Amino acid sequence: MKYTVPRGTKDILPTEIGDWQYVENIARSIFDLYHFEEIRTPIFESSSLFNRVIGEESDIVQKEMYTFTDKGGRDLSLRPEGTAPVARAYISNNIGRTGTHNKLYYMGPMFRYERPQAGRYRQFHQIGLESIGSEHPFSDAEVIALCYRLFTAIGLKNVKIYINSVGSETCRPVIEARLKQFLSSNLTKLSENLQKKYKNNPLKLLDSKDKDLQTYLSGLPDLRTALSQKSKDHFNMVLEYLDSLQIPFEYKPTLVRGLDYYTETVFEVVSDDLGAQNSICGGGRYNNLIKNIGGPSVPAVGFAFGLERIMLLLQQQNIDVPKSKELIYVAPLGNNHAMASIKIAESLRSLGINTVLEYGRFELNPHIKRANKLNATHMVLLGDQESESGTVQVKNMDKRTQDTVSVSDLKSYFSELKVSNHV
Ligand code: HAM
Repeated sequence: MKYTVPRGTKDILPTEIGDWQYVENIARSIFDLYHFEEIRTPIFESSSLFNRVIGEESDIVQKEMYTFTDKGGRDLSLRPEGTAPVARAYISNNIGRTGTHNKLYYMGPMFRYERPQAGRYRQFHQIGLESIGSEHPFSDAEVIALCYRLFTAIGLKNVKIYINSVGSETCRPVIEARLKQFLSSNLTKLSENLQKKYKNNPLKLLDSKDKDLQTYLSGLPDLRTALSQKSKDHFNMVLEYLDSLQIPFEYKPTLVRGLDYYTETVFEVVSDDLGAQNSICGGGRYNNLIKNIGGPSVPAVGFAFGLERIMLLLQQQNIDVPKSKELIYVAPLGNNHAMASIKIAESLRSLGINTVLEYGRFELNPHIKRANKLNATHMVLLGDQESESGTVQVKNMDKRTQDTVSVSDLKSYFSELKVSNHV
């Protein structure tokens, strides 16, 4: 039997991993800049957590969860997103006990049973953050600014930030009523599915791709007028902060998110270079989520982006991912030099320099071939002549130069190189 990778998943190979680590490292360093700290939660949680947080009516809960019963009869699901687990962990560990603002980030696989296509997987990877404990509009602006800084640092081009407000739980029924009233004369012309949305979650109609519905929606009055004064003020302050930080964004009144927990600000980062799955990042404020699952009443805002889509953009936009630093290839030119070569390799490693030594290869040409294949920056060659004089040949693979270096000076030769590589 031939085993294949499960549909909608992929292996991330050593040839690709440099791109992943590049993005992960930039994300970590930017999270540090804003003092976000990492949290790691389990890959599965009780199904009821997701049902409650994401919403019984949502596509994710209705169709996309990997749900199973464990041997103890527990109803569990692989996490389809990171916000619910982080909120659960925040409560379980009483993270907010000191009453401070908690800034958490996470990275890892998420699972949704969706129809696979370019940029859409059943196991995909998110990097996300949750800023828990502040209602201040600056908190919304800060996470959007961080997000913008992150994508800029990665080198992404032509990304757009769309932003909208869905209001608080008190303005939501008003917005929904306005929308329903506006569409009521065309209701019977809508498909059964859209009519169901009209009834259960009318805001979801706003971003529907249905052509007829889009026509009916044209001329929809600005729904911001349905927001309470408090929500309007909050949204306007977020926009003002973003303006003053010179973060480019576009107000998009039809922006609603696929998850039900949002209140007030919602945002999305998209790229036209991605085709149908053009959303790189989604997020927003969720002031009631933690209270709704039995925690304290704490406001929060966050976002998550999909790594697979960022990888596609790195390729599509030809973004230059810096190659890893030096790699020294130690090449014994004869079995009798193997022991000395191992010692050299170990002494280089003790300097923190990445070093590779291949066994069973003692001729120059195969060594050079292999060193090139591994993208080694230098070769250290040790043959009879060198052995007699207590030296080695150091070949710089880029510059195509070669130095004779005494074994006792090798450490200082490469420590200088290491210093210059790291500045
Ligand atoms: P989301 O919009 O469902 O939000 O997902 C965020 C990002 O994950 C998307 O923009 C996309 O890049 C990526 N993504 C989602 N589904 C897939 C898939 N099937 N294949 C590949 N990539 C995918 C959330 O998950 C919220 N928890 C974000 C958040 C955090 N809101 C507040 N805090």
